[in-house]
Amino acid sequence: MKIIMLGAPGAGKGTQAKKIAEKYGIPHISTGDIFRANIKNGTELGKKAKTYMDQGALVPDELVVDLVVDRVGQEDAKNGYVLDGFPRTIPQAEALDKALAAINDKVDYAINVEVPDENIINRMSGRRACVDCGGTYHIKYNPTKVEGVCDACGGKLILRDDDKPETVKNRLSVYHEQTQPLIDYYSKQGILKEVDGTVDMEEVFNAITAILG
Ligand code: AP5
Repeated sequence: MKIIMLGAPGAGKGTQAKKIAEKYGIPHISTGDIFRANIKNGTELGKKAKTYMDQGALVPDELVVDLVVDRVGQEDAKNGYVLDGFPRTIPQAEALDKALAAINDKVDYAINVEVPDENIINRMSGRRACVDCGGTYHIKYNPTKVEGVCDACGGKLILRDDDKPETVKNRLSVYHEQTQPLIDYYSKQGILKEVDGTVDMEEVFNAITAILG
């Protein structure tokens, strides 16, 4: 099962993608997580990506596409994967389709998690991310057992640099301009599924599993 998660920044793509990956036994591939790991490790890719991410801009397509095409070709992705944060532009979607078509394959579902902009800023300011494992929480909607400490690995929780309100506003406008057109792109392919992302996390997940079976 090959799944793409669509939705605005903070819509809950990562939250749902992790649950999907666990239930269906497929890898969760998040380009945001890949970039953050590279930043943490001080790689050249990380240094380049950081300059864009800090401003809420997209990392250029040429730094993303090969990385993802290579990742989905790995052994653990043979039976499927859930892509979170990719594609984010029409050229990225076309590049993925082309790479999959070359091996007689295709995306099965594009799930759009719908959350209006008004809800996003509030969600982002309450999000906390683990510096070690990338686990994501929310101070109100998904709190950790011990404040400031990751439930999964005991790592320290921080507010992501790009979750500050000014950067979130920019990320939202970048989303509407460059990523929202993908809704139409996948609708035309007949694989778009829409879920309401404003309800409780479990309810969102139930709606998704009703689609995936
Ligand atoms: P990335 O990490 O992909 O960020 P994003 O798409 O902006 O998405 P987020 O991770 O911010 O949000 P999410 O939808 O996963 O929400 P979450 O589940 O955490 O990308 C970061 C940057 O990297 C980009 O800006 C760009 O620069 C670069 N980049 C990445 N991929 C790229 C690409 N392909 N091309 C170019 N550049 C790329 O939930 C948010 C919060 O809400 C959490 O606190 C969560 O606990 C809470 N929450 C979730 N669901 C609910 C719910 N139902 N009710 C209440 N709270 C909820």
